[in-house]
Amino acid sequence: MTFVVTDNCIKCKYTDCVEVCPVDCFYEGPNFLVIHPDECIDCALCEPECPAVAIFSEDEVPADMQEFIQLNVELAEIWPNITEKKEPLPDAEEWDGKKGKIKDLER
Ligand code: SF4
Ligand code: F3S
Repeated sequence: MTFVVTDNCIKCKYTDCVEVCPVDCFYEGPNFLVIHPDECIDCALCEPECPAVAIFSEDEVPADMQEFIQLNVELAEIWPNITEKKEPLPDAEEWDGKKGKIKDLER
């Protein structure tokens, strides 16, 4: 089992999640973070830390966000590791809660 970062992280990227992860398994793209599924130890610490409520246990990812499970697998292999919190993206508050941001995902 792993945890998965989903749509509402896109264009927000608050990064509170990386501070609590005991195994440093978050990877960072231009406007989104992902979790490496083979490194995540399923501790659940990150889930309540995300102000955007973007992190779900793999078996609780909403039906309309199932594609994020594969996206986390794929992007964690190519993006760099992130272990320290940084400033959210400049328009994070404006984008928080908007639906269907996957079309804005930058790779
Ligand atoms: Fe890291 Fe735990 Fe979240 Fe997995 S569930 S990404 S190990 S904090
Ligand atoms: Fe993204 Fe939430 Fe982490 S917005 S960067 S998953 S704290």
